[in-house]
Amino acid sequence: MNIKNIKSEFPIFKQKINGKPLVYLDSANSSQKPKTVINRISNFYETEFSNVGRSVHSLAVKATNRFEDTRDKVKIYLNAKYREEIIFTKSATESINLVASSFGEKFINKGDEILTTELEHHSNYIPWYFIAKKKGAVVKFAPVNEKGEVEIDEIKKLITNKTKIIAITHISNVTGTIMPIKKIIDLAKEKKIPVLIDGTQGAPHLKLDMQNLDCDFYAISCHKMYGPNGLGILYAKKKWLDELPPYQGGGGMISEVLKDNVTFASSPTKFEAGTMQTAEVVGFSEAINFIENLGIKNIINHENEILEYGIEKLKKNNSVNIIGDPKERGSVMCFTIKGIHPHDIATILDEDGVAIRAGHHCCQILHDKMGIPATARASIGVYNSKEDIDILCNAINNCKKVFNI
Ligand code: ALA
Repeated sequence: MNIKNIKSEFPIFKQKINGKPLVYLDSANSSQKPKTVINRISNFYETEFSNVGRSVHSLAVKATNRFEDTRDKVKIYLNAKYREEIIFTKSATESINLVASSFGEKFINKGDEILTTELEHHSNYIPWYFIAKKKGAVVKFAPVNEKGEVEIDEIKKLITNKTKIIAITHISNVTGTIMPIKKIIDLAKEKKIPVLIDGTQGAPHLKLDMQNLDCDFYAISCHKMYGPNGLGILYAKKKWLDELPPYQGGGGMISEVLKDNVTFASSPTKFEAGTMQTAEVVGFSEAINFIENLGIKNIINHENEILEYGIEKLKKNNSVNIIGDPKERGSVMCFTIKGIHPHDIATILDEDGVAIRAGHHCCQILHDKMGIPATARASIGVYNSKEDIDILCNAINNCKKVFNI
């Protein structure tokens, strides 16, 4: 596979949108899927499907082995120390809700503080809002500066002896800011404060190493990593696995059920109640193969090349205001055009086959802080090219013509 013509691995790009070739610039929302992932899921249903972890017939044993093989592959990919630190969920949102609920129920009490930032996606705020309301705790927000960055000193200032957990994004899905999470984790460790990382934008675009990072929790959206929908991963450091109570009750997560007492399975199954999304887990194994075959460093270099080209081209358009100017930017370009609502921008770009997202991107606190209700967002995936950026910029000019700008 050659990254320069990787589009051919993605069947979706055979589609025309309004008679034009698809220019997909919405990977921060969800990525497109390579044919190897699509075919693996279809093949699993056709030849190997069974529920996992329950029946003893050959098909069930084989399907369970496939399912657990992916867990082992994810452990290696993330350089986790133990396989039981890899928990499958339905989404990164559920991964974060699991930690906020299980950790919160046991360790957060009235008056305690949860430290997060103004950059966060709602998936890494609302779960903390719920537990804070329930327990009478306080959520504190480290401020974002005019560049769209959260300085580590601002985080340091807000840490007190009541801070029970720090929950921060790896990469902002709006400003593209790559947060200095290793420094923040090291700072938190000095004060024995656990750290959860929202890795939804980080995992698809950065090399991850859980043992090096040494965070306590890391949430991943598989559908943003060229993997299937409906699948998330929670990395949870082993020390927490026996400490945290189960998140949901049901089949598979128990050890013994009596009328007056229930004991639970050990991790990861303790946190994997009910029938799991087996085909998606097996399909995700192929998504990891896809990333590894290309090489994450090659992906990072390619995406950064396209991103830098895009930022430079957008800057040349004096009607375009690029949101954020972080020192280190992930593959996200949010912008506004004076006099045109972002939803109108996205609708008109769509007529040229260009797919972007518009709105608050589930970051209303950040948009309020920036004083803008909505932004347009182009986000890069491995399949994007400089030609895509040229088509985006031409479509923006067409949009300006519609509004006589
Ligand atoms: N988290 C996804 C986005 O930023 C949905 O668009």
